[in-house]
Amino acid sequence: GSYTGTLRPQVHFSPPREFMNDPNGMFKDAKGVWHLYYQYNPTDTVAGNQHWGHATSKDLYHWVNQPIALFPDKKGDGIFSGSAVIDVNNTSGFFTDQKDGVVAIYTLNTDQEQTQEIAYSKDGGYSFTKYANNPVISINSTQFRDPKVIWHAPTSRWVMVIAYVQEYSIGIYTSPNLKDWTHASNFSHRGLLGLQYECPNLVPIPMQGTTEQFHLLAISVNPGAPLGGSTTQYFPGHFNGTHFTPVDDAARLADFGKDNYAGQFFFGTPDNEPPVGIAWASNWEYSQVVPTGPLEDWRSSMALPRVYELANATRRPFQLISKPYDLTPLHTSQLVPPNSPTANATVRVDYSHIPSGALHFRASISHIPTANAAGTANFTIYSSSFSSTDESLRGGFFLAASADTLFWLDRSRAARRFPDNPFFTDKFSTSTPIRDSGVWSLEAVFDRSILDVFLDDGVQTATLTCFPDARLDVLEWATEGLNEGVEVSVEAWG
Ligand code: FRU
Repeated sequence: GSYTGTLRPQVHFSPPREFMNDPNGMFKDAKGVWHLYYQYNPTDTVAGNQHWGHATSKDLYHWVNQPIALFPDKKGDGIFSGSAVIDVNNTSGFFTDQKDGVVAIYTLNTDQEQTQEIAYSKDGGYSFTKYANNPVISINSTQFRDPKVIWHAPTSRWVMVIAYVQEYSIGIYTSPNLKDWTHASNFSHRGLLGLQYECPNLVPIPMQGTTEQFHLLAISVNPGAPLGGSTTQYFPGHFNGTHFTPVDDAARLADFGKDNYAGQFFFGTPDNEPPVGIAWASNWEYSQVVPTGPLEDWRSSMALPRVYELANATRRPFQLISKPYDLTPLHTSQLVPPNSPTANATVRVDYSHIPSGALHFRASISHIPTANAAGTANFTIYSSSFSSTDESLRGGFFLAASADTLFWLDRSRAARRFPDNPFFTDKFSTSTPIRDSGVWSLEAVFDRSILDVFLDDGVQTATLTCFPDARLDVLEWATEGLNEGVEVSVEAWG
């Protein structure tokens, strides 16, 4: 595969060629290498013929493609989504004299049934052997999939969450050895139903600024998202080894854009640290028709890797906070001269000379008055080869006097390569109340055809794909009408 196309992300993972969807089997090994597997059709730019592709990285931004890890045995079968664990104590009995045995737990999709299977790897996750006595769970259903397994230390057991897809139910199973599974409970009909529950994840998660631990249950919903197609909802709560109890009955969504789905958390990071996750940056409404297929022979990238916590944000109790995973490996140069930006001014950053074409920027506004706040702050990312912003990706916010800060994103002018698709809706918005501290921030990474936005230190986030004709390589950040005394700073790296 060539990674040189105009639309090819450089610091977000995308497959060498053909079609990718969900991240699968993600784990961090004892040497510090991150393993990403993914739903992969190696023979077409649409879904079908599902395999597990594989890539590794030392920093989550620069990836090395590895040989395909799991293949279907029969034509027509698919290796669907699932997870992987490191079986340090050899509970499975697959390993002798090694602490780095890997077991993958996935759904085998046939035209008869969806069953849960396992495969083991003695070489640290590079090649797998399917277990001879598969399946390990079979309930005679065609809609039962996406096992995600974690190690639950307090009960010394493996715990699986899995979707009874069209029953709006998540099953919780336990096992001592990854082979024998016992059904423990169901978590059903909660929050948003949509038309299907897919790709559940259960993970320990800290409450920001405390030593309190919670569990997060994330459920992907597709189709039937409020914005159309695919979305992710989550439930903060407590898990006792067999049952998950949410803190309340609220429905909460992970992202206010349309391109963040089927996310998964890495196995192998410490339980008492914020979990790290990656989601698929697309939406089943249009993932199989986006223009990178005919233009560059690949479809879909992953969203930025993120670190997750819970926080009691302003008027948002138990909010999922997500921040980009350490971005310093992306920084080759600081693009905004120190002390250049001021309030009610425009900062222009031309980053066309940056080889990766990837931009990281952070803007923060401080000393915002709690009463009568006013003004706007907008960013525009456009092309140095045109003198106009006719082709651009834009966003910004209103610091309203009485209402909460309103934030908007607009990809309508960054879709020349993908015009007229009715599902590729182009405007998104959210609100983030201004904190008592009077500080508001925006952080974003733009990488050719994907933008990840983090508002107010990760209280609200959005992932957005776009398909411009030209490479967008100039950033403009403009503030106007801000109250006297309000301070603005912007930093950018490429
Ligand atoms: C989610 C999903 C999963 C399934 C996989 C198939 O995007 O539909 O439920 O395992 O994709 O590729």
